[in-house]
Amino acid sequence: MIKTVKKPESRLMGVITIPADKSISHRAVMFSSIAQGECIVRNFSSGADCHSTLDLFKALGVNIRFIDEKTLKIKGAGGKFSPIKQSEASFASSIYSYSCGNSGTTMRLVSGILAGQKFDSVLTGDESLSKRPMKRIIEPLSLMGADISSVDGHAPLTIRGRNLHGIIYRSKLASAQVKSCILLAGLNAEGKTTFEEPYLSRNHTENLFKYMDADMEITGNSVTVRPSVLKAKDIDVVGDISSAAFFITAGLIVEGVDFVIRNVGLNITRSGIIDVVKRMGGNMEIINPHSVSGEDIGDIRVQYTDSLKGCIIKGEDIPRLIDELPVIAVLASQAKGDTIVKDAGDLRNKESDRITCLVKELSKIGVNIEEKDDGFIVHGQGAKALARKPVDIPLETYHDHRLAMSFYVAGLVCQNEIAINGFEWTKISFPEFEELFSSLTLG
Ligand code: S3P
Repeated sequence: MIKTVKKPESRLMGVITIPADKSISHRAVMFSSIAQGECIVRNFSSGADCHSTLDLFKALGVNIRFIDEKTLKIKGAGGKFSPIKQSEASFASSIYSYSCGNSGTTMRLVSGILAGQKFDSVLTGDESLSKRPMKRIIEPLSLMGADISSVDGHAPLTIRGRNLHGIIYRSKLASAQVKSCILLAGLNAEGKTTFEEPYLSRNHTENLFKYMDADMEITGNSVTVRPSVLKAKDIDVVGDISSAAFFITAGLIVEGVDFVIRNVGLNITRSGIIDVVKRMGGNMEIINPHSVSGEDIGDIRVQYTDSLKGCIIKGEDIPRLIDELPVIAVLASQAKGDTIVKDAGDLRNKESDRITCLVKELSKIGVNIEEKDDGFIVHGQGAKALARKPVDIPLETYHDHRLAMSFYVAGLVCQNEIAINGFEWTKISFPEFEELFSSLTLG
């Protein structure tokens, strides 16, 4: 689907509420499904990725039903699943196949759950997910005694259920998906399992494990779990700061903007973009901070700022804003001076190679951006319109939801209309994206 975007004719004003966090929605379904007891999950994400997780746990035999559009009732399996019969052949061989769609979080976290079950399973993904690296979970799970085969480190993954044992794993990568996979496997392994990472990645798994009474200790960047059955508890999912990032950026760079973004999750392991906006001198204020189901939350007021300046983003910043880097590149295009992003090589392993693709596509609309092995440099020109000459080819999205939404935001500061090919990928995390933008345009 091609979407055209141009500078809005009216001022962007009003109040919007950001929909549910994708990472927490996945975990709410997974953890409630393996827990003992019944619970309600409120404000579940409508994104396709979280629905892949939901469908997978239903296929594992978990009793999950919608009470209304965004509220789920889940009866936990207490760690023991009774997979739904798929075909005579799969039933006879006890191999069950589950699709993870486009969702890396589903595949990596569910692998940690399935590795210690009493049955065998196959996890498949779409074209993009089948290209993403899975060795990062296969290696530590194998050290725990798991039996997983892959196609040269990629999906489909064949997981033969085994008894697992705990390990101490020092990861070179700060990845919440790898961490969560190993901690989930650790819940069902003999002895204790420790995961240590170089920088703290998002900690929603730890927050929910604590909330659901897992036997867990945290020291610095190291987490230890002992065999535990989680206790089902009601969960309210906070709004997704990664989705809010598109509105924060638009708020700062589109002339005349003044709006409030409500219900934004402000967990410190996710709020790197707020620090970056401060470093760049952006006009932004946090209102009404409080906490919900173990997560910090608040509203954000954002106003147009014509004096943004470039900054350096590196090291421990990176896991705190990894998903926001594409839209931060758009933000940096409207700042004066260089914004240097380094230590972010894992951006090449996301839904697309987010370094090469971002540089190629943003260059089409006149962003001065340079590719580096582990990041990029945006040579910002200050608050100046992009696409000052007509752009006759669409920007490509490479099946990547966050590129599609970042390019839309860039379009709001383009002098000439631009076209985005593959805009439908926004459905992966944020199906309400365009409707919410339109509500502001009319405000
Ligand atoms: C996620 C962790 C991050 C992030 C992804 C969601 C999660 O991936 O990019 O969108 O929910 O744990 P990595 O752990 O691979 O960095």
